[in-house]
Amino acid sequence: MSKVATIEIDGKKYEFPVVEGTENEQGIDIKKLRAEAGVITLDRGYKNTGSCESAITFLNGEEGILRYRGYSIESLAEKADFLEVAYLLIFGELPTKTQLDKFYADIKEESAVDEEMKKILDGFPKSAHPMGVLSSLTSALIAFNPSSVNVDSEEEMYKAIVKILGKFPVLAAWTLRKKNSLPLNYGDDSLGYVENLHKMMFEKPGKSYKVDKEVIDALDKLLILHADHEQNCSTSTVRMVGSSHAGLFASISAGISALWGPLHGGANQAVIEMLERIKEDGGDTKKFMAKAKDKEDPFRLMGFGHRVYKNFDPRAKIIKKSADEVLGQLGVDDPVLDIAKGLEKEALEDQYFVDRKLYPNVDFYSGIIYRALGIPVEMFTVMFALGRLPGWIAQWREMRLMKEPIGRPRQIYTGANLREFKEVEKR
Ligand code: SDX
Repeated sequence: MSKVATIEIDGKKYEFPVVEGTENEQGIDIKKLRAEAGVITLDRGYKNTGSCESAITFLNGEEGILRYRGYSIESLAEKADFLEVAYLLIFGELPTKTQLDKFYADIKEESAVDEEMKKILDGFPKSAHPMGVLSSLTSALIAFNPSSVNVDSEEEMYKAIVKILGKFPVLAAWTLRKKNSLPLNYGDDSLGYVENLHKMMFEKPGKSYKVDKEVIDALDKLLILHADHEQNCSTSTVRMVGSSHAGLFASISAGISALWGPLHGGANQAVIEMLERIKEDGGDTKKFMAKAKDKEDPFRLMGFGHRVYKNFDPRAKIIKKSADEVLGQLGVDDPVLDIAKGLEKEALEDQYFVDRKLYPNVDFYSGIIYRALGIPVEMFTVMFALGRLPGWIAQWREMRLMKEPIGRPRQIYTGANLREFKEVEKR
């Protein structure tokens, strides 16, 4: 006998089945709630509401656990490379060498971006934020790849997937090069996926490009750590847009816009700006801690807190360790790293943060590494998007293959009751 939940309303009891996941998470299946009880649930920010059943990523916020398709984030960050993890997230299994080689060959085959796309990029001022440019260019890709819109078969989905995996790094590199007034370039098929991305971003005309293994390894690890995170704001956006069958590129474009916000992926840029502000202000972290706790002050400790993690974000632990390693390897001495560590120590000992279980999240240290790798702060959230791309794709593909219904939440109306129209003379 499967477990049921009983809800009593106006003296009448209703039973609903409880679904249980493979990690013993339980959810009340309320698909018949409105039909049977005439009521809906209300849950601002969906803090207690599951939107789907998914086999891609498992996280336990209380214990600080994160796994992609059952593999711990720690083992993948240490032993896998980003393209392997992308394959794992999208198709559910770690690829054999043959599968991985074919996957990358298919991606390279589709990495050309139509020259006409450069005219769209030309229309942006250099001051445009890269996330707005990237979201626009991703959406514009549709016009040059119409076959990627109405995809119903797995084969058609696969073609759209390798197209976006091939073209997205080019768009991200062009976004940076536009800001740096550098000529727009194309990839180098002789390089690996992450090396190629880095070369497209940083190669200079007339100068030979030397692959720095330590830099590529650090970037590869950062992309893995950002690759998926179950039903976060931007992924839920990708699934919502995808549920109307608007196509993969349109769904990814919407996800980029959602990620841009400083409460979400935009936090990695906001963290560095916050740390720089503290440094400029003389490094008085206690003053900023007080501001973060002051309800009258809109200032928040960026990179701290999380909707799900009420323990250390496992990614933040790995990134913090990697920051020390990368800066050491590159001989970079970044004073904001010490400020970040001081802030973390104070927050972890402060009752306000302890009571609210606020810990450093993935965005707290990542910007320090991006900066050491020479990535400008306005591009930090683009780097997050490059990492999250396989996760968005995996979640979109799962949603489409499971034939999920179009997303359409309900509401509780609190506006005016019926009233008669009045001509303007009588108002
Ligand atoms: C990401 O969802 C994901 O998985 C996202 C992500 C992913 O990989 O996709 O992990 C990536 O988005 C990480 C989060 C990056 N954002 C930031 O670092 C911005 C700073 N953090 C906060 O804005 C906040 O913690 C959120 C948005 C991340 C979470 O907000 P919630 O879950 O809605 O929690 P809340 O705002 O209701 O906060 C609960 C309490 C409140 O105080 P009280 O009203 O109870 O007194 O904690 C306080 C908040 O004021 N609080 C903070 C704080 N975060 C929460 N106070 C000071 N500084 C903070 N950073």
